[in-house]
Amino acid sequence: MRVTVLTIFPELFEPFLATSLVGRARAQGRMDIRVRQLRDFTDDPHRVVDDEPYGGGAGMVMKAEPWLRAVRAVCAEEADEPRRVLLSPRGARLDEAGVRRLAACPSLVLLCGRYEGIDERVAAVVDEEVSIGDYVLSGGELPAMVLIEALSRQIPGVVGDPDSVEHDSFRRGLLDHPHYTRPRRVEGEPVPEILLSGDHAAIERWRRHHALLDTLRRRPDLLATARLDPGERAELEQIAVEAGLEENLPPGWRRGKMED
Ligand code: ADE
Repeated sequence: MRVTVLTIFPELFEPFLATSLVGRARAQGRMDIRVRQLRDFTDDPHRVVDDEPYGGGAGMVMKAEPWLRAVRAVCAEEADEPRRVLLSPRGARLDEAGVRRLAACPSLVLLCGRYEGIDERVAAVVDEEVSIGDYVLSGGELPAMVLIEALSRQIPGVVGDPDSVEHDSFRRGLLDHPHYTRPRRVEGEPVPEILLSGDHAAIERWRRHHALLDTLRRRPDLLATARLDPGERAELEQIAVEAGLEENLPPGWRRGKMED
């Protein structure tokens, strides 16, 4: 996949793009990521990208023309029609399904806004707006990195063991199960015995049980859309009864009230 980032702070991306999984994905040619300086698309000697807001008020607004020129220029260089994504706290909140949908695009252009906002007329070259959460950052650069890292995990071959992507939290709409590594005892806390048993079927059952229990405890909002088979759903209902967490089950799920 090919990603072009438009930003006034290209240097923020350098260590990120050279490190860890994303660095490897680029070195292996699985992700082609370019970072372009928005100021290169200004037409004044001072390379100005912002101005005061019409109507008054605090802060500056990013001017429309550099963005319009930049997006059109980078799209003209692409063989595929790129999907143009503006990172913005006004966008739709990013989730795993959104990451998978964007990972299926052969080419993306990511627009990193700054300051108080971007002139609304930039919307003419934006396909969608994406937010990484309901809080405001000073710009779209960190959100773009968040998106790039999440995308990299979806590209076949980037994560060495495909099982680890399959088990990622949210893959099936559930949180991941708890993990343990050496030593066996940490400040008196032992590793659950079952994980030392070598009984792979029992370990799988333990992990499924704890993924269900943790989701029920921590993120019950995920359960209504989680992809559970009938056995898992029945197990979850039993876990809820045993843990006294029946009120965390989605409405209509409680024992004796199952719809299907
Ligand atoms: N820019 C500033 N805050 C943001 C957020 N929460 N998500 C995406 N882009 C942003």
